[in-house]
Amino acid sequence: MDSNFVSLVGRVMASAASVVITVAWLTLAALANESLVPADWDADIRLTEVVDLNPDPRILEIDMEARVALVEIEPGLEVEAWTYNGQIPGPLIRLNVGDRLIVHFTNNLPRASTIHWHGLRVPIEMDGVPGYSQPEVQPGGSFTYDFTVPDAGIFWYHPHVMSAAQVGFGLYGAFLVDDPAENVGVHDDLVLVLSDIDIADDGTLASPDTGGSVGMAFGREGNHVLVNGQRRPRLVMRSGAPQRWRVINAAKSRYFMLDLGEGHVFTKIGGDGGLLEYSVEDEFPVLGAGERADLIITPRAEPGAQLVLQSLLHDRGYGSTELRDIEDLILIEVADLPPHEGAPLPVVRRAITPYDTREATQIKLDLTLKQDPNDMSFEYGINGVPFWQAEPVLAQLGEMQVWTVENTTPWSHPLHLHGFFFQVLDENGEPTRPLEWKDTVDIPFEQTVRLAVHFDERPGTWIFHCHILDHAEGGLLNAVHLGLPEGVFSNMLKH
Ligand code: C2O
Ligand code: CU
Repeated sequence: MDSNFVSLVGRVMASAASVVITVAWLTLAALANESLVPADWDADIRLTEVVDLNPDPRILEIDMEARVALVEIEPGLEVEAWTYNGQIPGPLIRLNVGDRLIVHFTNNLPRASTIHWHGLRVPIEMDGVPGYSQPEVQPGGSFTYDFTVPDAGIFWYHPHVMSAAQVGFGLYGAFLVDDPAENVGVHDDLVLVLSDIDIADDGTLASPDTGGSVGMAFGREGNHVLVNGQRRPRLVMRSGAPQRWRVINAAKSRYFMLDLGEGHVFTKIGGDGGLLEYSVEDEFPVLGAGERADLIITPRAEPGAQLVLQSLLHDRGYGSTELRDIEDLILIEVADLPPHEGAPLPVVRRAITPYDTREATQIKLDLTLKQDPNDMSFEYGINGVPFWQAEPVLAQLGEMQVWTVENTTPWSHPLHLHGFFFQVLDENGEPTRPLEWKDTVDIPFEQTVRLAVHFDERPGTWIFHCHILDHAEGGLLNAVHLGLPEGVFSNMLKH
């Protein structure tokens, strides 16, 4: 028993009744604040964290070096990959909401790069997009990112230069912003970065251009699925003991559809931008490229049994389910301990006020795919034009917009907006609940999604694009000019 308990009991000894109340309270609190699994339960899978160079507890100051390094993705299988600080994924950045982050970034890759902070509402100068927010960081060059983190939630970071290639080669990492006031009643938590990597027969990274234009149109997936940089890592769970998993889909094209097997249902408590309006049960959570999910899962199995977290085949359009395999993601050992018997978890709630869209500016965006009749090559676009021919969406500071996004193509597109959260209003007219702050939303093939976005006081050129990164580079990208005079920068997208 710890000394707090002893002194607490000492203080209340005068009244027998209050001792009883105090002890009961401590037992309840202990449920959420103590680990229910054996020590080292996550030793094989846990992400390494960044090293903080700054003594101020509200400032996290780190070095981040992009470089080629040999990484082992399963015992005996090494590949020379592109990494942050020599590892895949890059180190976990974890801080509290309102803290300041300073990143001394050095690019020791053979190509230019940047870091984009996916989902974080940063000033435009920190957004990491060459041509709009910062120059490319050349090989041997450096750049300092410095901003305050305004929102709790699970985010991630990755380059924004040759994104499909660089993300596919291994450049991504998790970014967790905690809210110390939030208590969802689960102690044992884990950050899971899902991705894949494409390794050629000779053991080197496969070309990012395989399959040419058809490969682009589908979106190239890696042939080795990774969880926290490893193939099928091990994890210990305990029957009846809930775990909280913050899951990030950092793959450049692949969707994940999670399944823990018979009788298991996930409780989804949060998504891209923190907690949901209320938690919901989800048997097979789906994450499109770039999306996140905050999940609670309670395993039910015999002590000593094995479970496997799998990714099922999610239909994201032609070729995504035919002749494909279900993937094993995590091999789970159920601890040889008596099942934990806890009270049912509380419903997690968060107040999210639905946007008032009555005065909103209506914007129609059709996601389009064209095939050149001469060479049969594919080109994605928005409203029929790829980003290099597009006129930007114009927005005023403080403006509310409703985007009606219609996917006219035969493949799904996880659409990501930089710098802002939005609320999804409906899908094919079906209202979306619970409400959630999102920065990436799946627009299923041949479906229509409406979303509301409120542009705040951060002027700049904020891009939006499909997070199947081949699609973005194949045309499915455009920009919002927020609070800028008309015409300014309007041809920056044109190379
Ligand atoms: Cu993950 Cu342009 O973004
Ligand atoms: Cu796409």
